[in-house]
Amino acid sequence: MKKIFSGIQPSGTLTLGNYLGAMRQFVQLQEDNHCYFCIVDQHAITVPQDPKQLRENSRSLAALYIASGLDPEKVTLFIQSEVPAHTELGWMLQSITYMGELERMTQFKDKSEGRDAVSSALFTYPALMAADILLYQTDIVPVGEDQTQHLELTRTVAERFNNRFGNVFVIPEIKIPEVGARIMSLQEPTKKMSKSDENTKSFISMLDTPKQMEKKIKSAVTDSDGIVKFDKENKPGVSNLMTIYASCTGKTLEEIEAEFEGKGYGDFKGAVANAVVDTLEPIQARYHELINSEELDKILNNGANKAAHFANRTLTKAKKKMGILRK
Ligand code: AMP
Ligand code: TRP
Repeated sequence: MKKIFSGIQPSGTLTLGNYLGAMRQFVQLQEDNHCYFCIVDQHAITVPQDPKQLRENSRSLAALYIASGLDPEKVTLFIQSEVPAHTELGWMLQSITYMGELERMTQFKDKSEGRDAVSSALFTYPALMAADILLYQTDIVPVGEDQTQHLELTRTVAERFNNRFGNVFVIPEIKIPEVGARIMSLQEPTKKMSKSDENTKSFISMLDTPKQMEKKIKSAVTDSDGIVKFDKENKPGVSNLMTIYASCTGKTLEEIEAEFEGKGYGDFKGAVANAVVDTLEPIQARYHELINSEELDKILNNGANKAAHFANRTLTKAKKKMGILRK
């Protein structure tokens, strides 16, 4: 069995982009792999968070993971801050990650742009992400396309550690979904759909009501051609809606073009909205059962124990190699 690790930040309610780009792959992978899925709250605090909201978001994210189909019997689901090995190894890896490497990260550039105060943790964020992955001897990291650069840096740092101190870490591979790897904003379709976008019309939250979803899709920015055709460059809005429709229904882009030939955007958007509602409604039902349940706490406690057990073994090995344990 291969080892799989991925993480999502509890920095807001998950979007359709998170679901199609990341979470849905997780559900498929749990069948024949050893999976660790993490709520990365230590990453979330690299930008300002309201403490009460953060706590709620972490819980909500845990419930969404399970409601989306993850089986707590099969996967280890846990909150990053409940396994201190992550921040410990994160610090150790910072010591072999270079400023120049971190300065090149586009996520850092995007997230720091326009802020008066940028935390040093936002800058060193990729070293903690590398620690998350490397602690579990991970073979494969399923993520959306935006994480490619972080994954490359993780591999570089792991190789550097192994070369300098001796073999401890497995060098992980990235896995990006074929369709849905990059769902774009409904309002500015050249930007990725993000849960931290100020304009709430730009994203579909996994917990939006059917009415809200429909409204947001109907007001999605398209163009004036009136033709349903996949052309990312010239028709980014329509292409994004096609990707969403394809991901939710399993239809190919060609099938979708044929389905809407001679029809306008009104019909097309209606079909997209129905497909999205059909995808998210059953997840929401399960979510509401879980969110205030003791079952959820049990799952998270159990997950943290299981994760810590494995993570501590790798951490001890890495410490010994680096010379920071007495013996
Ligand atoms: P984040 O919300 O930034 O913590 O991302 C969690 C996971 O969702 C990562 O694997 C991202 O690559 C993925 N993801 C986030 N936004 C999108 C999007 N708009 N399209 C596809 N995948 C996404
Ligand atoms: N950086 C990721 C994101 O913004 C979240 C993340 C943190 C992650 N640690 C990880 C993803 C480890 C995969 C593996 O989406």
